[in-house]
Amino acid sequence: RTVDGRGGVLLPGFVDLHTHVREPGREDTETIATGSAAAARGGYTAIFAMANTSPVADNAAITDLVWRIGQEVGLVDVHPVGAVTVGLEGRQLAEMGMMADGAAKVKLFSDDGKCVHDPVLMKRALEYSSGLGVLISQHSEDPRLTEGAVAHDGPTAARLGLAGWPRAAEESIVARDALLARDAGARVHVAHASTEGTVSLLRWAREQGIAITAEVTPHHLLLDDSRLETYDGVNRVNPPLREDRDKLALRAALAEGVIDCVATDHAPHAAQEKCCEFSQAKPGMLGLETALSVVVETMVRPGLLDWRGVARVMSERPAQIVGLDDQGRPIAVGEPGNLTVVDPDAEWTVEPDALASKSRNTPYAAMTLPGRVALTVLRGTVTAE
Ligand code: DOR
Ligand code: ZN
Ligand code: ZN
Repeated sequence: RTVDGRGGVLLPGFVDLHTHVREPGREDTETIATGSAAAARGGYTAIFAMANTSPVADNAAITDLVWRIGQEVGLVDVHPVGAVTVGLEGRQLAEMGMMADGAAKVKLFSDDGKCVHDPVLMKRALEYSSGLGVLISQHSEDPRLTEGAVAHDGPTAARLGLAGWPRAAEESIVARDALLARDAGARVHVAHASTEGTVSLLRWAREQGIAITAEVTPHHLLLDDSRLETYDGVNRVNPPLREDRDKLALRAALAEGVIDCVATDHAPHAAQEKCCEFSQAKPGMLGLETALSVVVETMVRPGLLDWRGVARVMSERPAQIVGLDDQGRPIAVGEPGNLTVVDPDAEWTVEPDALASKSRNTPYAAMTLPGRVALTVLRGTVTAE
């Protein structure tokens, strides 16, 4: 049928390199179906489903299952991320080749921060990945520096008596993995960059010719640790919300291209896992349905990105990073395309109960945000409007 997109901004369908759908294992908080619906409403036509499911996505049977369920749901391409190791904290590399060769054609391997604390394991994973042509996402923090930590290690955490998670925990691992990727001749992708220092390291690594790419989350672009004053568990996330200067450095880096793309780290949690005392709340926040609006608020409104730039950070760069050739590009006449139409003048107030996600842990509840996805089309079929 014909769609009237008048007054809208036409963009290639968005690609999210970092989504947690909780299937298999925690279908009470998100399923591939509900996560896909949230993604379509957010303007996405492809998402990368993180490996920290239960069981862990460390073999082709699971990665193929996730891919097939996603195709049956049919709202968005759900590309499984393979775990780097057998089990999240495993010592043995997973069957990466089998996952890459399977129906899901796994392109991205990660661990969600648990297994590649060990530099020897990361070195081996990078060496192996370079032969396989897949990408490893650096997702790790120095575990000694983050033990017991719940919030950014700064004045706010100190005043509130919260255990601090230092910038150095992230930055030391980004530096380490950039150097390991250099030596292995491998590509590495930095998940959820959150500090000013990480931006400097990325810039330095690029100057050395290291094949490093990076993503930033919408929440690290918009929010900072001043949010912690209420002790509301919804604001607990890994890596933690940082300070104003980190936020501004991340925005500038995204505008400049030092950070390649926006990735949501959409992390649904049950209400009872988020309502408790801050230190007991599970880390993670929803992101799929609000990402575009947060990018408009933090990047388009201040003049840091134009709509061409939005297409770059939400769609083209993430598609290129993982080598998706059917996403992130303009469509030719007569070709069934993946696209998103945004109403640039819309303003909307986020109501958690109106979200398609099965969970409610959005940090933007009652916030009014600019710009809204009006229509999403996957291979010529409307998936959200
Ligand atoms: O806050 C987070 N939550 N960060 C992660 O890296 C994992 C995620 C989750 O799975 O809930
Ligand atoms: Zn993470
Ligand atoms: Zn994550």
